[in-house]
Amino acid sequence: MAAATSTRAVTPAFTLVAVVSTDGFIGRYSGHDPPAWASAEEQIHFAALVDAADWSFMGRVTHERAPRASRRRVVFSRREERPRWANPNQLFVDPERTPLERVSELLRPVREPRHCLVLGGTGVHDWFLARSRIDRVVLTTEPVSFGAGMPLFTDQPIAGPVSLLEDRGFVRQSMRLLNDRGTRLETYGRAAPAVASP
Ligand SMILES: NC(=O)c1ccc[n+]([C@@H]2O[C@H](COP(=O)([O-])OP(=O)(O)OC[C@H]3O[C@@H](n4cnc5c(N)ncnc54)[C@H](OP(=O)(O)O)[C@@H]3O)[C@@H](O)[C@H]2O)c1
Repeated sequence: MAAATSTRAVTPAFTLVAVVSTDGFIGRYSGHDPPAWASAEEQIHFAALVDAADWSFMGRVTHERAPRASRRRVVFSRREERPRWANPNQLFVDPERTPLERVSELLRPVREPRHCLVLGGTGVHDWFLARSRIDRVVLTTEPVSFGAGMPLFTDQPIAGPVSLLEDRGFVRQSMRLLNDRGTRLETYGRAAPAVASP
């Protein structure tokens, strides 16, 4: 008898990828894009992560700042009453009207959404954090301070986003420098649940 093939849908894993200033901002203002201030090393690392991902989720403005029809994207917009394919690779949705599970079903015929990136801006980070749908964070910190701007998360403390991540159960898993000017790359993941002793 032939072995049955599993058709069970895979739950996507979401990795938030961002570059921040030392005081935790993703830019001074909307339109202050990372290519204008982040290091070449960060930009190379970021491009490699995007290339390797199945899908990238982002806000409408982030998409419009660098529209590339060949990139597989899910673009959040409250203007979308129902999901809309802008082209064969780019789905526009309002996540309040179209749940993530439905979004995954729509993506599947194009590419199975196993490894997905959350690419901002702040409102999109907030949305995934509030629903505990961030599995991993890849955070690059550049040696610049903005003093004010767009935070990584709306509710982060003045010291920056890391203590907020720790409060939400993330632990740092790795840290390395990307260059000799002090650009720091860190990854955060969920702490493994404690195993009860027998
Ligand atoms: N440093 C970094 O790592 C990083 C990361 C990402 C972005 N950025 C920068 O940040 C800037 C863009 O950020 P931004 O905050 O201005 O804009 P954004 O988050 O890219 O886009 C904002 C728009 O996305 C939609 N949106 C956001 N959250 C939503 C939600 N929860 N539900 C439904 N729709 C939602 C809305 O679109 P509608 O208005 O159509 O409803 C909203 O007006 C750019 O300059 C970009 O380069 C930096």
